[in-house]
Amino acid sequence: MKIAIDGPAGAGKSTVAKMVAVKLGYLYIDTGAMYRAIAWLARAQNVSPQNGPALAELARNCNLTLKPGAATGVFVHNQDISTDIRLPEISELVGPVSAQKELREELVKQQQAMAHAVDAVLDGRDIGTVVLPDAEVKVFLTASPEVRAHRRLKDIQKMGLPDTFDQILKAIVERDHKDSTRAESPLRQADDAVKVDTDTMSIDQVVETILLLCAKCEKTIRI
Ligand code: DC
Repeated sequence: MKIAIDGPAGAGKSTVAKMVAVKLGYLYIDTGAMYRAIAWLARAQNVSPQNGPALAELARNCNLTLKPGAATGVFVHNQDISTDIRLPEISELVGPVSAQKELREELVKQQQAMAHAVDAVLDGRDIGTVVLPDAEVKVFLTASPEVRAHRRLKDIQKMGLPDTFDQILKAIVERDHKDSTRAESPLRQADDAVKVDTDTMSIDQVVETILLLCAKCEKTIRI
């Protein structure tokens, strides 16, 4: 079974996707981390974020690996870049990088290969629409920009970074706009996805909701 979890930045996708994967014993694939890894590599190797073919080439040749764990380990050329890809400069760069058609084609191929023949939970922006259009369970996880900004502020404060609520909210609104208006695989809810608005839900409630959807789907498959 494949579970696709899409939605805007800060909706809690990765936390929830990881918990669902642990509960079900499925593989968790953080596709955002893959775009971040290529953004990191492009920066390190002075490759332009607009150069789609060169970015795709980086992705083909860097041995990009995700290692499951409490926090997903992200490796390129066997180097652990799990922490670096979360830095603000990479969050800024990954927007234009992930908009490149050639790179998306390459990473979608890698994501489909990783999910092939295993039970998996994938989170991202285009999982239900492009990567796994046949996923048995599709969730569109969302929350208001203000709630997402509050959640992100807490994470950022833990990292000791000085951003304010207003700065974070502005960045989230801008990123939503860019993610949903880009030409390549814009963020959108798949027609057959279930929308889960998490504004007033705890993480456990969201996980429970998704597990219920999975249980319902398993029943249907058995019948
Ligand atoms: O979920 P995240 O913030 O780690 O994602 C990083 C960036 O990658 C974000 O700008 C959206 C983009 N992304 C994408 O275009 N497609 C995906 N499947 C996952 C992430």
